[in-house]
Amino acid sequence: RLLIIDFGSQVTQLIARRLRELSIYCEIHPYQKVTDAFLQDFAPKAIIFSGGPDSVTREGSPRPPKSAFTLGVPILGICYGQQVMMQELGGLVESGHGTAEFGRAFVTPTDKSLSILEGWFDAGQEQVWMSHGDHVSRIAPGFEVYGTSPGAPFAITADVARHFYAVQFHPEVHHTPKGAKLYENFVRLAGFTGDWTMASYKDDAIAKIRAQVGDKRVICGLSGGVDSSVAAVLIHEAIGDQLTCVFVDHGLMRLNEADEVVSMFRDNYNIPLIHADEADLFIGALEGVSDPEVKRKTIGKLFIDVFQREANKIEGAVFLAQGTLYPDVIESVSFSGGPSVTIKSHHNVGGLPEKMGLKLVEPLRELFKDEVRALGRELGLPEKFIGRHPFPGPGLAIRCPGEITREKLDILRKADAVYIDQIRKHGLYDEIWQAFVAILPVKTVGVMGDGRTYDYACALRAVTSVDGMTADYYPFSHDFLGETATRIINEVKGINRVTYDITSKPPGTIEWE
Ligand code: XMP
Repeated sequence: RLLIIDFGSQVTQLIARRLRELSIYCEIHPYQKVTDAFLQDFAPKAIIFSGGPDSVTREGSPRPPKSAFTLGVPILGICYGQQVMMQELGGLVESGHGTAEFGRAFVTPTDKSLSILEGWFDAGQEQVWMSHGDHVSRIAPGFEVYGTSPGAPFAITADVARHFYAVQFHPEVHHTPKGAKLYENFVRLAGFTGDWTMASYKDDAIAKIRAQVGDKRVICGLSGGVDSSVAAVLIHEAIGDQLTCVFVDHGLMRLNEADEVVSMFRDNYNIPLIHADEADLFIGALEGVSDPEVKRKTIGKLFIDVFQREANKIEGAVFLAQGTLYPDVIESVSFSGGPSVTIKSHHNVGGLPEKMGLKLVEPLRELFKDEVRALGRELGLPEKFIGRHPFPGPGLAIRCPGEITREKLDILRKADAVYIDQIRKHGLYDEIWQAFVAILPVKTVGVMGDGRTYDYACALRAVTSVDGMTADYYPFSHDFLGETATRIINEVKGINRVTYDITSKPPGTIEWE
């Protein structure tokens, strides 16, 4: 196994992700914990030093244990990890001198023979992502330089005899396009074959949950989404009926969705589930509300009230399980330094555990979305369920601009079901990040048969995206759009006009509110 020593970089987890993509088992441990004894015990086959925010020139800044360099295993140092490696092995690191680099930079090779650079420099220079204030000004004895950038004369260095490699940039981020190749080369030369699987992660996660929870009770808020569902099934596999799930049904789910959630968890998995059917409460509170933020806040507050009320009924509950993913954990790096503007207040149960005096169980905290899906498959969740598009916490409320009524929600549910059916029938579902219908707060005139109609207009939305942060509209064929519009108008009473939303994000957002 491979050890990543974390010196506090914002992107350390991405190193683990790159390695997991190569089916390599790795563990991240904070530098404070990695002592000589720890290393002895861990017996890594290779080590990676992460980046970090500190300066190695500062007295008392983080260091790896000395024995890391005498274990005889390959080491890759990244950014701060590179600098600390140089300093510890007899090189020199300096601050300032106008050589700080942040963002994109280009590395020029000085020698292309290095094995970890196989596949690099085909086009001459390589784009990399830098983020450093300090720089190495003298490399340690035994090291040679293999690549330079304007702000980092020693962008790539190595002591080939000892298998020590050090790079100033961050190969783990997407802005270093050949970064994954560098990791692949590194682990290959360290002798890894790439045989780690989600099955082993699952076993590990189960053991950790058992150790954390003991014989105490756990509550899990179930939303019907992939994350909370995978968390619930995993925890249930670990501790059985010590787990109780609470599904707060706000009446804003899609067609048949609430029933499907209940039957899947209760009947298929035998997981104790409280179904708090509170459609009247939520829809009642939303009456007359058309401001999107007020809708979101109303739903968020009621959700917490209901959840808390139900959770309080579960005696002896000590833990709250959440399907928190790694992207929710990473603090966003603000390059502008200013506070970010709230575009939409997302609804989640943040703050709940403290309020309720519960401890958190977050078994998906280290995983990215696609890894959660892989884990779900491993746990036997149906493929159709695992591959579902994201669905927002406030549900259909934010796909119903203007005032929400039961009538509009019913029409919306039916139209959405026809649209998704069309997408599935044409085999497009998995190509699309998210697709849904929004019912518009406007009625338009139409003609059906010989009669005049005066019904709602709706908008179809379908986007491609990697992470939901940016998105592009999906280029359906005109035939598909025509056929779908005809089906919706024929099959859904209450809609007589269909439009297709071709706004990208930005400037639009994915949801309409
Ligand atoms: P926007 O509309 O901001 O959405 O482009 C980006 C992604 O986030 C989802 N979304 C939410 N998810 N609670 C959630 O759990 C929310 O309040 C919420 N609002 C938007 C949206 O569906 C899309 O996938």
